[in-house]
Amino acid sequence: MTIDTEGLAQELIERIERAQDLQSLEALRVEALGKKGRITAEMKQLGGLDPDARREAGQALNAVKDRVAGAIEARRKRLEDQALETQLAAEAVDVSLPARPERRGKLHPISQTVDEIIAIFGQMGFEVAEGPDIEDDYKNFTALNIPPEHPARQMHDTFYLADADGRVDMSTVLRTHTSPVQVRTMETTTPPIRVIAPGRTYRSDSDMTHTPMFHQVEGLVVDKKTHFGHLKGCLQDFCSAYFEVEDVPLRFRPSYFPFTEPSAEVDIGCSRKGGELTIGAGDDWLEILGCGMVHPKVLAMSGIDPEEYQGFAFGMGIERIAMLKYGIPDLRTFFDADVRWLDHYGFAPLEAPTLIRGLTP
Ligand code: PHE
Repeated sequence: MTIDTEGLAQELIERIERAQDLQSLEALRVEALGKKGRITAEMKQLGGLDPDARREAGQALNAVKDRVAGAIEARRKRLEDQALETQLAAEAVDVSLPARPERRGKLHPISQTVDEIIAIFGQMGFEVAEGPDIEDDYKNFTALNIPPEHPARQMHDTFYLADADGRVDMSTVLRTHTSPVQVRTMETTTPPIRVIAPGRTYRSDSDMTHTPMFHQVEGLVVDKKTHFGHLKGCLQDFCSAYFEVEDVPLRFRPSYFPFTEPSAEVDIGCSRKGGELTIGAGDDWLEILGCGMVHPKVLAMSGIDPEEYQGFAFGMGIERIAMLKYGIPDLRTFFDADVRWLDHYGFAPLEAPTLIRGLTP
């Protein structure tokens, strides 16, 4: 028996190169190299030959097998590339096209409020600092003068993370406030420090006025002669600029935070006459933030000498001040992802707030 190995190879390779899709290529592979394929069938015939002829024909068939397999691989690669190119061409988006008015998106009130906060504090010389949502227990608590046995830990309804075996790992938390960014900043910066840190915070609490995730903005100033007057002036300027009300009335009430001493909570003056909330008028008060002078122990733990430096810090709820300014009555609607709500309360995306042109579009 003499097989025309060259003829077989040429015929198969020609057909492989003409295969138009992966399916017909696979059919060809089965036809040539499959268990009942033509090359396999030829291999089975070898047994009937005498040893010399068998070796020669075997080598020739193996060479054909390799060439055919190589041709299939090359064709497969080419077909896959073509398919990808076709798909990319079909899915191409022209990013230079203007948005259709009925499809135009809006900026979420939280994004708008953060932009406004950054514009105001930016003007005062603050930089934006950041920290991760997943924080270690040390920076969220211990370095803020909240040691493990401190009752303030219970006040925070902390989400603890599980370790690799699914066991609760007390050393990693979802940050319960933005204050750990104070620690991160002090550990890595030599004063003077002037930063704000807006971001997400988490507490295991959910009702009319609490959501498990919410936003805060932290402020931290550390310098050689920083005092409580600076804190008051800074917050007064911020509130007047943010609420766009000159000399907005603020009330500082003595309070307690483990990481500040003295500490205060700040209320803003408002009126609720006729069910309508007006900021900056009337004789009602609404709490908007916590603040105080950075505790000397907190400075020292983060490597800043409290004999040489003092600082002030504050933490404000972003949803709270967004609700007050924009008359949004229900906290939970912030996170409903309802486009009708966003259409109503959202903001034009391309008009960044500035103090010169005005904060709100
Ligand atoms: N971290 C405090 C809270 O979440 C707020 C705060 C920040 C108070 C900075 C004082 C100084 O309640």
